Amino acid sequence: MLPLTPVLVAVVCILIVWIFKPADRSLRRKKREPGAPPWVDEDLNDSTDLHQGQEDADERPESEEDVEHIPFSHTRYPEKEMAKRSQEFYELLNKRRSVRFISNEQVPMEVINNVIKAAGTAPSGAHTEPWTFVLVKDPDVKHKIREIIEKEEEINYMKRMGHRWVTDLKKLRTNWVKEYLDTAPVLILIFKQVHGFTPSGRKKVHYYNEISVSIACGILLAALQVTQTIVLKELALASFLNLQ
Ligand SMILES: Cc1cc2nc3c(=O)[nH]c(=O)nc-3n(C[C@H](O)[C@H](O)[C@H](O)COP(=O)(O)O)c2cc1C
Repeated sequence: MLPLTPVLVAVVCILIVWIFKPADRSLRRKKREPGAPPWVDEDLNDSTDLHQGQEDADERPESEEDVEHIPFSHTRYPEKEMAKRSQEFYELLNKRRSVRFISNEQVPMEVINNVIKAAGTAPSGAHTEPWTFVLVKDPDVKHKIREIIEKEEEINYMKRMGHRWVTDLKKLRTNWVKEYLDTAPVLILIFKQVHGFTPSGRKKVHYYNEISVSIACGILLAALQVTQTIVLKELALASFLNLQ
């Protein structure tokens, strides 16, 4: 057996530290924010206002009796019909494209209202429905919105996104110029409500607000596709196809 010289002891100590360091690091990564509930995964942490101190202390929480009962209605299709409907739905959604050239043709308000109502059927954290849809038709307001977005997008491309992101986007030939924000007859602005208000004006927690709003956006896109609401410029469609 080797005698335990000071040098050997030092080497053994360094080895032990080296072996346990990665494990320690991974433990540290998983450490939760103080006060955060254990079920909030870091990836899902979207600035939802979860601080107990800000919750409404004296407000009576909504009880089961306060919640309006909405009956569940369901149509059961034969297997063949289900397969046909799912195939048709897939084919329709598969035609959706993120277009950057939009016609100025008017869209009936009834259709716009219906697609927004469809988006509002989305599930949401604790049924908080943390979204606001704002319709903009006024050309001056649309233009002001375009200016704000283009200014921010230019900073994104030049500074915030970084080289890798900007390089990855090159194949899509996107940039910060968004002419279609002036051209489209209607803009739908979608806001997430990071918190709401109780009847007495206190802050109300909106759980998973960003995820809930994202699901609503997905349904909105599907509804726009099903109704074929987004009309492309003919010429633009051709140049977009060129881009593929
Ligand atoms: C979260 C998210 C962010 C996006 N950001 C932009 C964007 O800043 N500019 C843009 O032109 N397209 C943007 N897109 C559209 C994507 O580029 C597009 O979905 C992708 O290229 C696939 O094309 P498709 O939507 O036609 O299937 C974004 C899409 C998502 C889901």
